[in-house]
Amino acid sequence: MQILSDYLKQTGVDANLQSLIATLADCSVEISQLVRGGALAGVLGATESENVQGETQKKLDVIANDLIKDKLAAQPLVKALASEEEDHVVACHADGHYLVSFDPLDGSSNIDINSLVGTIFSVLPAQAGIDGEQAFMQAGRNQVLACYMLYGPATVMALTTGNGTQMFSLDPTDNQFKLVDGAVQVPADTSEFAINMSNQRFWQAPMQQYIADLLVGKEGPRGKNFNMRWIAAMVGDVHRVLSRGGLFTYPTDTKDPNKPFKLRLMYEANPMALLVEQAGGIASTGYETILDIQPNHIHQRVAVILGSRHEVAECLAYHSR
Ligand code: AHG
Ligand code: MN
Ligand code: MN
Repeated sequence: MQILSDYLKQTGVDANLQSLIATLADCSVEISQLVRGGALAGVLGATESENVQGETQKKLDVIANDLIKDKLAAQPLVKALASEEEDHVVACHADGHYLVSFDPLDGSSNIDINSLVGTIFSVLPAQAGIDGEQAFMQAGRNQVLACYMLYGPATVMALTTGNGTQMFSLDPTDNQFKLVDGAVQVPADTSEFAINMSNQRFWQAPMQQYIADLLVGKEGPRGKNFNMRWIAAMVGDVHRVLSRGGLFTYPTDTKDPNKPFKLRLMYEANPMALLVEQAGGIASTGYETILDIQPNHIHQRVAVILGSRHEVAECLAYHSR
């Protein structure tokens, strides 16, 4: 079994990126241990604070955020960081090479029910002479690295440095990530979809029609039956898509007129879009390729439709009618 650091060296990944990946892996090993400890580690439950997005922070949101922030601040290659749980960009090392955005704990609502959670990272190149939030305003296409760690029955890491998507599994006997798939491929076709159906009445017409046609299955225009899954953690749903295909979407909705989208571009949509594209899938808002969006805010939100390329194309066709 090839360990992560050997794999990166042998495949010629840039030495600085190797060092940064080691730091990110390090963060996830510690978070994984806290997650495994559950109630015994004192990490369950909520805090009394809210993040900048008005969401109540879970204890583990804060613990994971602080842990990652400290480790990144101690990594000289990091120029600045942006986190779901930080109101503003945090400056680190003026001569650092990388800008790291992260969702310290994705799927927070799953923590207290002992279900899937993970961590998501997106890395952009630092740009000379551009600081603060402005430096992060680069399209997802510029990412030099994207990865997530999923704390499930096994802790796994999906990683891309722009040369395909690789999957690693954390060996609990020595705390090393080991390669399990050097070229992840999302099957082009699928009969599985993931959407929060309870929001149905708030969707726009194209998504209403697309899902309605899936639900009538064999008797409808698609001529086949579909299955549905919803993990309520994007990391879990995207991991299923990378593992066996599927379509995952969190579409535009009118539930809260001030918040038409749920998922965050910089540390949810962009890194997942790169991982999915590098595995042969597609990631779109319905009207625009996620990785081509020019961001204007570190906490901005977008609609997301991603996964198996033929199925995502079917869904996009409803949007262009
Ligand atoms: P987070 O826990 O980082 O706030 O993200 C949760 C996101 C995403 O992971 C998931 O797909 C979605 O919220 C779940 O939304 P519902 O609560 O509508 O199921
Ligand atoms: Mn999240
Ligand atoms: Mn989160």
